[in-house]
This record gives sequence, C-alpha cells and structure tokens, in this order.
Amino acid sequence: MSQETSALHDSRGERLAALVERRWATICVLIMAVFVAVAAFAGIHQATMPQARVETVSPTRLHLGGEFVETNLGSAVEPDGSVTVRAIGQEYSFTPQCMIVPTDTLITFRAASPDVIHGFLIEGTNVNAMLVPGYVSTIAARFDTPGDHLMPCQEFCGVGHEGMWATVRVIDRADFLKMAETKPRLSCVE
Ligand code: CUA
Repeated sequence: MSQETSALHDSRGERLAALVERRWATICVLIMAVFVAVAAFAGIHQATMPQARVETVSPTRLHLGGEFVETNLGSAVEPDGSVTVRAIGQEYSFTPQCMIVPTDTLITFRAASPDVIHGFLIEGTNVNAMLVPGYVSTIAARFDTPGDHLMPCQEFCGVGHEGMWATVRVIDRADFLKMAETKPRLSCVE
C-alpha cells in the first residue's frame, strides 16, 4: 500500500468513527431527554392532580360523633368477612391501646388524629403511615401468623412522643370470629 492510499484510508476511517460517535451522542441525549420528560410529567401530574381518595374529618369533633366516637373504635367484622380497625392517635396515646386482629384476613385500619401529626407504624410489617389532623388514614394489611406487634408513634409529636405506642395483637381467625359474635367492637385492652 502506498503512503497516500493509507492516509486516505485513515481519514475515511476517522470520518466514519466521528459519524458513529455523533449518532450515539444524539441517541444518548434523546434517551436522557425522554427520562427528564417522564420525570417532569410524573412530578407535575402528581402535584396538580387531587389524590385519588382523600377523606376528611373534623379533628375537633372526632370524639363527639361519627365514625371515631369511642364506642365505635376497635375491630369490627364487615359483611364481606374483612375486618376494619378504627383507631385514634392523640397526644400521647393510641385508642385502643391494644388492637386485636385475626390471621389470614384483609384488615383495613382507619385512623385519625384530633391534634397533631402522629405516626402509624406496625413493627414487622410494611404498615407505615401518617395520621394527619383533618384526614382519615386508611391502611390495608394482612397478617399470616399470630403474635404481638409493637406500634410506636414514629412522627415526633411533642414531649410525650417517646411514650406513645400501642400493640397490635394477631390471633387465630376462628378465635377472633368467636369473640366477635358477642361484641361488635373488639380490642385487647384489659
Ligand atoms: Cu405521636 Cu409521636
């Protein structure tokens, strides 16, 4: 190969390499632009759209009437066989202090706060929510094995925060249903 042909060869190769490089750079920028657009759309969409389901409740009238009066708190068996647990988190305790639920059942926790933000966290599960005054927090859960779970408040709510906790007791479904026959609202508060 003469020197000239090889030089021609080299510059042709360089041009090809540069072309391929530019093409890939363009593709990379396009991919990044798509990701940024998706993230921006998701963020703006979430910020501008109302939440799918927001339930409000007057925090100052929680104890006076409606779903969260004291006699309605605790666990209730629903017609479809699921169990609803209604609870209040207030400075500095939960009511009921001990919640009882059956195994192998869809459990719906419905909780509210009359004062400040509290946490609703059941240890050993993925239940972790906030109780925001003015709103009903609804959390679904299912427990496979009987046992006690600690439920500490995990949002700083004041000087008594450290002492704010409850227990969630999981018992056998058959035992639970037997208890529920005689009492419409169950708890394990002694
Ligand atoms: Cu309630 Cu921290």
